[in-house]
Parts: sequence; C-alpha cells; structure tokens
Amino acid sequence: MKKKLKKAFAVLMCVTFVAAMTTGCGGGSSDSGSAKSEGTDSKAAGDAAADAADAAGVDVKDAKVGISIYQFSDNFMTLYRTELVRYMVDELGFTEGNITVQDGKNDQAEQTNQINNFITSGVNVMILNLVQSSSAPQITDMCNDAGIPVVYINRQPDETESDRWESEGIKATYIGADAKQSGIYQGEEIAETENKGDINGDGKVSYIMIQGDPENIDAQNRTDYSIKALEEAGMKTEELLLQRGDWDQVKGQQITQDALTQFGDKIEVVFCNNDAMALGALQAIQAADRKVNEDIYLVGVDALTDAVQNIVDGKFTGTVFNDYFGQAQGAADLAVKFLNGEEVDAVNMVDYIKVTGENAEEILEKIK
Ligand code: BGC
Repeated sequence: MKKKLKKAFAVLMCVTFVAAMTTGCGGGSSDSGSAKSEGTDSKAAGDAAADAADAAGVDVKDAKVGISIYQFSDNFMTLYRTELVRYMVDELGFTEGNITVQDGKNDQAEQTNQINNFITSGVNVMILNLVQSSSAPQITDMCNDAGIPVVYINRQPDETESDRWESEGIKATYIGADAKQSGIYQGEEIAETENKGDINGDGKVSYIMIQGDPENIDAQNRTDYSIKALEEAGMKTEELLLQRGDWDQVKGQQITQDALTQFGDKIEVVFCNNDAMALGALQAIQAADRKVNEDIYLVGVDALTDAVQNIVDGKFTGTVFNDYFGQAQGAADLAVKFLNGEEVDAVNMVDYIKVTGENAEEILEKIK
C-alpha cells in the first residue's frame, strides 16, 4: 500500500492539472476505435470461466471501457474518476476515445440502462460504481452473460455476491477500502483528544451521527465502528441523533443546524460519514458560534483538500484519507488483468490513513 500511495503521490502534479479539467475527463466517446475480441489466444479457454473471458488478449490501446459513476456531483467520486481516467490514459496506454464515463445520476434504473448500452456497444470491460450495491447480482449476471468482466468500485457488494464470483468463476471483482477501519480511526481521533470527547465532563460523550446513504456498507460500518472504537477506548457514549445526510454537504449543514438548535451545548461530537457532510456541519457550527476543538469536535472521512486545510487551521478535529489514488489505479490494473485473461481476487482492499493535527500539513502537501 505504501508503495502504491507513493507512486500515486508522485503523479500529483499531473492530477492537479487534470482535476482542473474534470468535466472534460468525464466524457470520452464510445464509438471511436474498435476493440473486438481479436487476438484471443485461447489462454483462458477451457477453464470454468471460459465464456466470460472473451476479452482475454485485448490490447489496452484498443480496449473499449465502460465506466459508470453513481453520481458525478459527488466530490469524492469526482477526484476518483479524474484519477481513474488519467491513470488509464497516461500510464496504462488506454485510448481516451475508447473510454466512456457516464453519470448514474443517483438512479439505479438509469445506470442499469447505461450498462445495457455498454453491453450493446461491445465494451471489453466495465468499471462500475453502483448506485445501489444491492443491484450487483443482477448487473453481474447481465455482464457475465455478455462475457464482459466487471470491476466494482467504491460501493461493496455483499459477501454472498463476491463469494459467488469465486465459486462460479465469474469475472467480477471489487476494489475499495475497508470502511470499518475508517470508522475505527474516527473513534480513535476523538479518543485521542485531551478529554476523550467528554468536553463537559459528565462521564459520557454525547454525539450526533450524520450518515451517508444507509444502504451503503461504508455508511453502516463508519457509523458503527466509530462509536465502538470510542467505547473500546473506555468512553461511555450517548447518541443524541442519527440521521442520513446521503453524503451531501447541504444536508450535513441542515442536519447540524437543526441539531444545534435542538440539543445546543449537549452536543460534544459531530461524527460525519464523509467530509462533504462534515464541511456542511462546520458551516452550521460556525453559524452557531461554536468552536471546533474547544466546545465541540468534528470528524469526517475522505481527506478532501478543504477538510484537511481545516484541520491545519484548527477547524476540524480529524478526517481519514480515503485513498482514491490507490483505489482508482488498482481498479484500472484489475481491468487490465481481466483484459489479459488473468485471474484476480474477488475482493481487494486499500488502506485508509488517519489524518489529525499531527500529520495534516504533510497530507495536505501530498493531495493538493
Ligand atoms: C466516500 C464518500 C462518497 C461515497 C460515494 C464513500 O466511500 O467516503 O465521500 O460520497 O463513497 O459512494
């Protein structure tokens, strides 16, 4: 992981440049270039997954790739897809015009249509950030029937599904980060503060939890494991509010504003499942004249630049770096393995990194 991260950081200048052109990156066209399954040297033929291995032997520069992101307006997934396309084109030799990136618009039916269109247009591999991870069995079957391998990213299909890929030799895989780890890091960040989150000294940490989309395993695990970690550090906890904010900054702001009106000084910690919601929470905290790290703590996940800058400035307690470089590059590498007809593991995990006042400057240098 360290090696991967280093490599990723080495290309940051490039990423910054590409990030400035994000929209341009989103829209490769699907009809240039032809990537038929030529060159299949029957390497994979004959094994159990033969019918899903049509793509084996496709040269990357000719390979057609269908990518669908659950929602373009998600700022974390924007960093992710920008790095994904940059890495594929600049470092792996894919042809930009052969890569189609679509916006799932947070609508599973819309995204399923896009996937059907990818199948019709004959892509060689797909990289999918599902709107609903519960759709994975249906989508996997569609792609498998068409002989197209799939790399799932960011939203993990459940274990029954990934076990099935292995047992049935289906060409599907997942790459992400173990959300339990990010939750644990958030809990530890609070436990490492001078009063362990118990600002008013009443023997318990009273918190509000702003959750992502609760269907998403990341949202569930960050919610559970942040509190477990704090309790394991010896603290009693009191949940004042648990509300879904769907990963969204505006919702994070509204929920926090309402909670501050309802619970006032009782709130000692605002846990947010991601930084976008935490940035919204910070707006509400400041509007209510509360001071982070003095009379309230605030933690997020992702390490968006603004969030890390806020840690440096003392306005955020902590975040957790969700390594989109490692995940995007890993996803592209897995796609290439499929194109080469190689075997891949069903589940691939990249580590998170805790970000607090102690290392925020260093992380900021690396991501900005
Ligand atoms: C990230 C969120 C993002 C979500 C999208 C999570 O892993 O932390 O910021 O919005 O994925 O699925």
